[in-house]
Amino acid sequence: MAKGKIVAGVLAPHPPHLVYAENPPQNEPKAECGWETLRWAYERLRSSLARIEYDVIIVQSAHWRTNSGTHFLGVPHFKGLSVDPVFPNLFRYTYDLKVDVPLAEAICQKAEAAGLATEMMRNKDYRIDYGAIVSCHMTNPSWDTPIVGISSVGSARYFNMDVLQAQMFKLGQATREAVEASGKRAVLLSSNSLSHRHFTKEPALVEDMSFEHINNHNQYLWDMKMIDLMKRGKSREMIDILTDFTEQASAETDSGALSWMMSAMNFPDYPAEVHGYGTVIGTGNAIVEWSQA
Ligand SMILES: [Fe+2]
Repeated sequence: MAKGKIVAGVLAPHPPHLVYAENPPQNEPKAECGWETLRWAYERLRSSLARIEYDVIIVQSAHWRTNSGTHFLGVPHFKGLSVDPVFPNLFRYTYDLKVDVPLAEAICQKAEAAGLATEMMRNKDYRIDYGAIVSCHMTNPSWDTPIVGISSVGSARYFNMDVLQAQMFKLGQATREAVEASGKRAVLLSSNSLSHRHFTKEPALVEDMSFEHINNHNQYLWDMKMIDLMKRGKSREMIDILTDFTEQASAETDSGALSWMMSAMNFPDYPAEVHGYGTVIGTGNAIVEWSQA
């Protein structure tokens, strides 16, 4: 059997607004328009991934938060309705997805052997979180590829970012080893925004783009700093300053997904492709691809 490979890693943020504005049949609320710069960035990502063959999408989501270690979806098929608890007016999405359970089990076992607390999630009625759904939908709206779903842990809040990153480096290594042993070709998704200070009021028409802009300039500068490091292939440096970035920009990197993905990809030293950047209710979001195909 040929050795498996991580063929791409993608920073794939999950504002439900993006699915809302796309108007797919799965989502009940309908929009006129909105957040085009980010949706066009996802279009460019999809064109890029269409040129690569892959068997599975592995996603770590900020909104499946497990405080008792890292959990993995462990049921082959999930069907149900996912409602965003903060934006139920925008996201009521009927999902129907397949899970690569053998690969999930393999990553889980390797992570456990590396000393992490892990668990396979075997509840067939579990409601998949909107973070994983939005990132996967925007990356592959046809849902024709199975996923591996990984939870995020609360270590950044319970302890600090350094503890979280140490754990995510182990999880990343476990992911890479399991993918290589599986013989499969995997795309990784880090499902999170960059800066994450957001407005607390919505305009009457949610997709009225005259209200959309970055929450504050400090946050914008931090996002540009991170993106500059990505573009210059300096992922180690990016990860080194992730603690300061996460604190000062209230960034959603406190989920650990970006640290996990960079570790799984062995801290790429080549330039990433930035497909686009834009704000959603004031938060900073970038769609960025590291290709290893
Ligand atoms: Fe989020």
